[in-house]
Amino acid sequence: MKKLKITETALRDGHQSLIATRLKTEEMLPILEKMDKVGYHAMEVWGGATFDACLRYLNEDPWERLRKIRAKVKNTKLQMLLRGQNILGYKHYPDDIVEKFIKKAIENGIDIVRIFDALNDTRNLEKSIKTVKEAGAHCQCAISYTTSKIHTTSYYLDKIKEMEKLGADSICIKDMSGILTPYKAYELIKMIKKTTDLPIELHNHCTSGIAQMSYVKAIEAGVDIIDTAISPFATGTSQPPTEPFAMTYKNTDRDPELNIDLLEDIAAYFKPIKKKYTDDGTLNLKVLETEPKTLSYQVPGGMLSNLLSQLKAQNAEDKYEEVLAEVPKVREELGFPPLVTPLSQMVGTQSVFNVLTGERYKMVPKEIKDYVKGYYGKSPGPIKEDIKKKIIGDEKVITQRPADLLEDAFDKYKEEIEGLYQSEEDVLSYALFPQVAEKFLIDREPDVYHIELSID
Ligand code: CO
Repeated sequence: MKKLKITETALRDGHQSLIATRLKTEEMLPILEKMDKVGYHAMEVWGGATFDACLRYLNEDPWERLRKIRAKVKNTKLQMLLRGQNILGYKHYPDDIVEKFIKKAIENGIDIVRIFDALNDTRNLEKSIKTVKEAGAHCQCAISYTTSKIHTTSYYLDKIKEMEKLGADSICIKDMSGILTPYKAYELIKMIKKTTDLPIELHNHCTSGIAQMSYVKAIEAGVDIIDTAISPFATGTSQPPTEPFAMTYKNTDRDPELNIDLLEDIAAYFKPIKKKYTDDGTLNLKVLETEPKTLSYQVPGGMLSNLLSQLKAQNAEDKYEEVLAEVPKVREELGFPPLVTPLSQMVGTQSVFNVLTGERYKMVPKEIKDYVKGYYGKSPGPIKEDIKKKIIGDEKVITQRPADLLEDAFDKYKEEIEGLYQSEEDVLSYALFPQVAEKFLIDREPDVYHIELSID
């Protein structure tokens, strides 16, 4: 058996899952050189929600963060999570933006791009895959894992074959909700191994309490890589901790050969940082609770806390259980979309509306209407006819790749922030999050008027 490879996720998914993506670059930098020497297969450090969080909450340039990380991580591969045609946002972007964004991410230091689509509609991955390959980086295609009568083992095997055909260099099973049970994981990985020679990575979350067991069974079935986070940023709604896996498989034929002393140093470094975010309330202790309900409701951890805060804002916390029970119904009616960004937020909001208004689908957010019209891609299963009628009436449903309807937009964005941007990266930040990035770019400008007018 080959050595087990480990991808460290603390600097992306770890803090995204536990402290709302609030880790600052300055809190990462001092420990990077040590992390670089651990022997990880890769470090996931960019993408997902980190880009938005940098601009929106931390007043940081996400591109600058990537360059600073790269300068200190000289040997270990740097990995990012890309939402396919949604890039790092919540909607489809035109092809030219996708292409330029990926090229810039790779140019600034990314080695491995993990790409997923919320609906597993591979048409939404095509452009990204092609661009990653052209730029010479490693293209990992991830399948959003969920369970339903549509999502059988053969469904997953077919998807993997599609991804392989499109050019994937490796495959990730992305279990964002933590619902892949240990024996299912064993069966699935065994079957995948018979289907393809591509390396297989498993990504899960501890939310429901089964993640470590699933990793052990997946390792027995021959999984190549697992995702873990250094202990202070592990468990709860995050990944399983790195150290126990390094210890468990030490001196076995799957020894990941990580430097345990360094892992201890890294954990010691992050402990007080986690404590700071616990003390100031950024880490809501709820995310650390084991929530077996996710196994029945299929609701990812992050979505549970989102739902709770939406209900709190409406003074309707007492409807929590009712909304939780509504989620799987809405999901089934909408063709079993996996609950991952942006579908998790959309299905969650629809469920809240259905319960709070007292009439199902009386209020429907624009995003759900667009989903039903096909603007996010093809739903995994059919959308129920009567529900479709209720949501969009007789409006047309598109069947082509959604991004085919979008015109190139880079030059338009560039014009819009003429005088404010200093690089293509700035324009791309603006293309993804116009209001947030514009504010960031304005704040970054030196306050020349203030200096010139103050003559004293
Ligand atoms: Co994740």
